[in-house]
Amino acid sequence: STPLRLGIAGLGTVGVGVVRILRRQAELLSARTGRDLQLVAVSARDKDRDRGVPLSGYAWESDPVALARRDDIDVFVELMGGHDGPAKEATEAALATGKDVVTANKALLAHHGQALAEMAEAAGRTIRFEAAVAGGIPIIKSLSEGLAGNEITRVMGVMNGTCNYILTQMEATEQPYEVLFEECAKLGYLEADPELDVGGIDAGHKLALLSAIAFGTRVDFGSVKLEGIQRITLEDIQQARDMGFRIKLLGVAQRTPRGLEQRMQPCLVPAQSPLGQLEGGTNMVVIEGDAVEQIVLRGPGAGEGPTASAVMGDICDLARGLRIATFGQPAAGLDPVPPASAALP
Ligand code: NDP
Ligand code: HSE
Repeated sequence: STPLRLGIAGLGTVGVGVVRILRRQAELLSARTGRDLQLVAVSARDKDRDRGVPLSGYAWESDPVALARRDDIDVFVELMGGHDGPAKEATEAALATGKDVVTANKALLAHHGQALAEMAEAAGRTIRFEAAVAGGIPIIKSLSEGLAGNEITRVMGVMNGTCNYILTQMEATEQPYEVLFEECAKLGYLEADPELDVGGIDAGHKLALLSAIAFGTRVDFGSVKLEGIQRITLEDIQQARDMGFRIKLLGVAQRTPRGLEQRMQPCLVPAQSPLGQLEGGTNMVVIEGDAVEQIVLRGPGAGEGPTASAVMGDICDLARGLRIATFGQPAAGLDPVPPASAALP
């Protein structure tokens, strides 16, 4: 059978993780998919940096758009980040020249996912993005395949590990938000723009993608009610604990008579519930459907291995010829609407 030829743009934490798996597990991946997964070309800004993985066997493109347009690749793997600029341009170039796309870029898809999905559909191609939501947890696949027989009624979750780390450390160490924010900066946990994490924006991006899949509607990040964790005090944390609750940055997307409501904000959750027991940088997604009732998925939401694991799942699906639907159009009576009030169910 013919190999699946890959081009990877972005050789940071996630890109290097994907190259490592492709090299380490070549035989296993070939046996599982029935095809060789062949990395043809890579792109990053600095060609001379030692990335801890041999790259001399792959063609180097300094311009990710040129990589996306190469006619010797089948799949363009976008692992650069950013919702405009090279990530968007290269993704569009890949679709326009007949490639499938795999990306971990939640910001790109939250802002442009609908237009990109329509472009992919018109071109007969697909965009896969398992790694964009909750890192290593296969949540997109679970919703679109394993739970396809359900009418989903609600999706909830903790989808930003950095915020969960700060909130759980505030409780455990009794240090204030500002001290733990600085600790996260030193540990390298924060996004380049930390407001994406602590302002709830990164988690809001993920919720918009998840709810579009769960409810078969369009991606509408603008309808997500957003509130970050910057104003949570030690007193808030302690009062919550005294009442048997914990504070989590919780995303909720649910059907209502008005349409699809989506909110990402600090919430009180019962300390003994699965969400209440979530520690550190871990993510958790709770899905409720008419047939399945409720399921809970938990796992690492970030980091080289977990995120590369999700990217590889998408690549393997493409090697097997699996093309699942991504974002939809406004479904009957279920268009994203801004939440009616701050009250949570
Ligand atoms: P990094 O910042 O570690 O790596 C980004 C890579 O993109 C670098 O190799 C950089 O090159 C390259 N790059 C940036 N701009 C350009 C450009 N104009 N041309 C060519 N290459 C470019 O990011 P991550 O690996 O952490 O994240 C990648 C994506 O995965 C992002 O969308 C992120 O949101 C997402 N993601 C990350 C997770 C994580 O745990 N890290 C978890 C889930 C999703 P150079 O190295 O030369 O500077
Ligand atoms: N900044 C994100 C987090 C990275 O803390 O969860 C993974 O998307």
